[in-house]
Amino acid sequence: METPRPSPFDDGELFDRMCATLDYGVDFYVEVAKEAGGPVLEVACGTGRVLLRCLEAGVDVEGLDLYPPMLETLRRKAQAKGLHPRLHVGDMREFALPRRYARILIPFNSFVHCLTAEEQVRSLRCCHAHLLPGGALVLDGFLPGPKYFAAANGTRVLEGEVPDPRTGRLLRMYDTRILDHEAQVQRSLMELEEIDEGGAVVAVHPMETLARWTMREEWDGLLGGSGFVRWELFGGFDRSEPREDEALVILAWKEETP
Ligand SMILES: C[S@@+](CC[C@H](N)C(=O)[O-])C[C@H]1O[C@@H](n2cnc3c(N)ncnc32)[C@H](O)[C@@H]1O
Repeated sequence: METPRPSPFDDGELFDRMCATLDYGVDFYVEVAKEAGGPVLEVACGTGRVLLRCLEAGVDVEGLDLYPPMLETLRRKAQAKGLHPRLHVGDMREFALPRRYARILIPFNSFVHCLTAEEQVRSLRCCHAHLLPGGALVLDGFLPGPKYFAAANGTRVLEGEVPDPRTGRLLRMYDTRILDHEAQVQRSLMELEEIDEGGAVVAVHPMETLARWTMREEWDGLLGGSGFVRWELFGGFDRSEPREDEALVILAWKEETP
């Protein structure tokens, strides 16, 4: 029997070490949050890569995440900066907060953790219900294309290497992706290796996560079916045309603005 692997989100400190140098989408979301003109909610806020930068920019931002260890790490980092964000443990597929927001952000491909179309719609409806009149949901994902589907299925590949901010050593991430085409779900079996100065592997952290991919033609039904009246799809944070095998950025408005 296979031993179940932990999720990458079960250890907030380890996740944070992996993402310490990652600035993916951060400037874009900070600008969106600054221009919101009202309170902002980051859904699946993790260890605060985006949220802390928004707070430092003076944005009234709150965070929600399903995994308490991620929020514990975020809280520790915030306290070190003298910041005290309002954070909620909650599931993006079903949450109820008392406040309403001018913008809801779901950065860094986190929406993929809704694993069926039904879960996606539940999450989108929940976001829609938590927006103020005139508010918008902003999220990023990935538009799968030929490269994604042609990539070796079930083969262990090197995803990348980053310096470990704690030790100065190298963290090396391997990923074995297994695609379930019927369910549109990718299973990722990951190994994070810690490498010492001599190149030896001194620790291995196995992890596993599931992610649903969404085809271009699904988004209209998902967003329209969740109450949004208008949306734009972009091919990246520079707001270019959507392209297959690239990031997809979505802005969806709660209602028609006059
Ligand atoms: C890739 S991380 C992104 C974290 C953060 N937004 C960032 O940009 O660094 C994905 C996040 O989604 C959270 N997550 C996964 N499933 C979730 C769910 N059902 N509801 C809320 N958060 C969830 C994880 O705990 C993790 O923090």
